[in-house]
Amino acid sequence: ASTLKEAAAAKGIVFGTAAAQSHMGESAYVSTLNREFNQLTPENEMKWETTEPSRNSFNYGAADQLVGHAQSQGMAVRGHTLVWHSQLPDWVEGISSRTELLDVMRNHISNVAGHFRGDIDYWDVVNEAFQDGSGARRDTVFQRVIGDDYIEEAFRAARAADPGAELCYNDYNIDGRNAKSDAVYAMVQDFKRRGVPIDCVGLQAHLIVGSLPGDIQANIQRFADLGVNVYITELDIRMQTPPNSQKLAQQASDYRAVTSACVAVAACKGITVWGVTDKYSWVPDVFEGEGAALLFDDDYNKKPAYDATLEAL
Ligand code: XIL
Repeated sequence: ASTLKEAAAAKGIVFGTAAAQSHMGESAYVSTLNREFNQLTPENEMKWETTEPSRNSFNYGAADQLVGHAQSQGMAVRGHTLVWHSQLPDWVEGISSRTELLDVMRNHISNVAGHFRGDIDYWDVVNEAFQDGSGARRDTVFQRVIGDDYIEEAFRAARAADPGAELCYNDYNIDGRNAKSDAVYAMVQDFKRRGVPIDCVGLQAHLIVGSLPGDIQANIQRFADLGVNVYITELDIRMQTPPNSQKLAQQASDYRAVTSACVAVAACKGITVWGVTDKYSWVPDVFEGEGAALLFDDDYNKKPAYDATLEAL
């Protein structure tokens, strides 16, 4: 195969990317997106601050455009994300009654997942609900005001709104085995036992060149053994900039390792990179001095990591 999507399809998985509607006027961006990827995740367009900026007033313009583009190209769509503490409007942060916030959360999910019903292959229902370094829940307005059961209530509301979508829990630093991924594992195990509707786990995989967890495949396998699918949902592997040939070679080896770990486990059904090109990656904005984390450089040239990923598929 000569493209990522063809090689992935031959393995029975999807290979996707985050994409932003604001770049869809750029021909090199769109041609690379269409040529290489068969799954699209709106990078920001389905987040709460965009879809429900004020209470019960919904905005789907940019997300609808991205979904339409994906459909025109035969791409699967990952909905991202229904419940998250970040990019959350102030009016939600200000709610202090459990009944009211549960009602607001359910209303958000039924409207957003209902609007896209039938068009979404997988929803990131809840994003980043656990803290790093421990198994504790992250302190968010949902956790404080509703309590532990906000996550299962979100999954129940999502199932009711779009019974055809796979429903995922998504987080970062859960790519290998550690206290945080142990806590997610325990939650998924509990949900499966009690019949809470969950179908998949998303490992974001925002990684660092030369320091990957060594047990990604074993971690994917243990989730698979619970009876859920696993997706690598936001893959990027950052380095100190500027890149050089040695760092790019290590990055290639790291992309190969992540791709191989997914391909080796039947329940790992897709890999999504967090952007088409280094030019528009979120990394330099958030991690000072770091970047060059994706498969295509600023000029849409294939990097060594591209070739390694293609070979590993
Ligand atoms: C990031 C986007 O890439 C940026 O454009 C935005 O400014 C902030 O959010 N984990 C997630 C994604 O689940 O939604 C985040 O995306 C990256 C970290």
